[in-house]
Amino acid sequence: MSNKRVLSGIQPTGNLHLGNYLGAIKNFVAMQNEFQCFFMLADLHALTVKTDPKILKENILNTAATFLASGLEPKKNVIFCQSKVSSHAELSWILNCTARVGWLGRMTQFKEKAGSNKEKASVGLYTYPILMSADILIYKATHVPVGDDQKQHLELCRDIATKFNSDYNNNYFNLPEPIIPKFVARVMSLRDGTKKMSKSEESDLSRINLTDTKDQIIQKIKKAKTDNYPIDETIFGVTSKRYEAQNLIKIYSNLKSEPPENTISDFHGKTFSDFKKDLSDLLIEKIYPISEKIKQFRNDDKELINILDIGSKKANATAEKTILEIKKIVGLI
Ligand code: ADP
Ligand code: TRP
Repeated sequence: MSNKRVLSGIQPTGNLHLGNYLGAIKNFVAMQNEFQCFFMLADLHALTVKTDPKILKENILNTAATFLASGLEPKKNVIFCQSKVSSHAELSWILNCTARVGWLGRMTQFKEKAGSNKEKASVGLYTYPILMSADILIYKATHVPVGDDQKQHLELCRDIATKFNSDYNNNYFNLPEPIIPKFVARVMSLRDGTKKMSKSEESDLSRINLTDTKDQIIQKIKKAKTDNYPIDETIFGVTSKRYEAQNLIKIYSNLKSEPPENTISDFHGKTFSDFKKDLSDLLIEKIYPISEKIKQFRNDDKELINILDIGSKKANATAEKTILEIKKIVGLI
């Protein structure tokens, strides 16, 4: 086992989709044999927008079931709930005093999520990247696998760590490195190739949920927006605006774990209606079994909670050491 330490998290805010899977979870699974890994349900982050307590609870259990159904093994990784490890919130406060207001104002995800009425957004939504930094730094994670949309938050985390080190004149924090998937950094909406696939998008046709039935997968791919040109190299040309085509090809190649050029050459000259049949078959082969397993895990919520509790105890053991060291550094007795 290398001395690299991985931490990542996903907000339990709704059914997870293909973007979460290809952008995040699939990469978590690939790392579990190589690194020491902490995978977290970012339940405190889910509170940054209005949430119904009953739905949040369901979402936490569904997300935990999805982690396990996707192949994350509790014996190899620390799988836990953020809210069960109180040092995240404690470190977050200390880092609130390190981070600068101007830095947060630049976060594009806040601008997107807060929309036009920023004054009415919760303070938590604004300061959320600081809690995310605490999530990472409390475990002294060296690597953070995330989708491309989280890159800016990772840069902020590095800025906060650097300022903390310089404010307290020590080199306490290492700077964590993002790990962004190479071929599909961002899975786009099936209805609009310029928007990312997201659980907050209104139309369910825009995404493949990890709990979709075979029929839903087939229908969504059938209805996915494409163009009338054949499949060829122009899809990825420098001036190409074939965004929907790019998205479908990238999804296919990622599921096959091959570069998009291979997919282009396999389907060269074919139309998207031919390609869509193969794409839905592949999705059914790779994604549908996850949906079946999610149901199985959800049949035993007690066991799910037990797995999370064991993970939380392990996470606490590491996090508590860090917070004690940090309190000492900043002068708290
Ligand atoms: P959403 O945007 O659907 O609310 P989250 O913000 O909870 O999803 O994202 C959880 C993880 O999944 C993050 O690592 C994020 O980078 C990744 N992710 C989310 N949407 C996508 C996407 N469309 N493409 C690639 N990765 C994604
Ligand atoms: N902000 C991440 C998201 O919305 C979730 C998250 C919370 C996270 N804390 C983290 C990801 C720490 C990586 C590391 O997707």
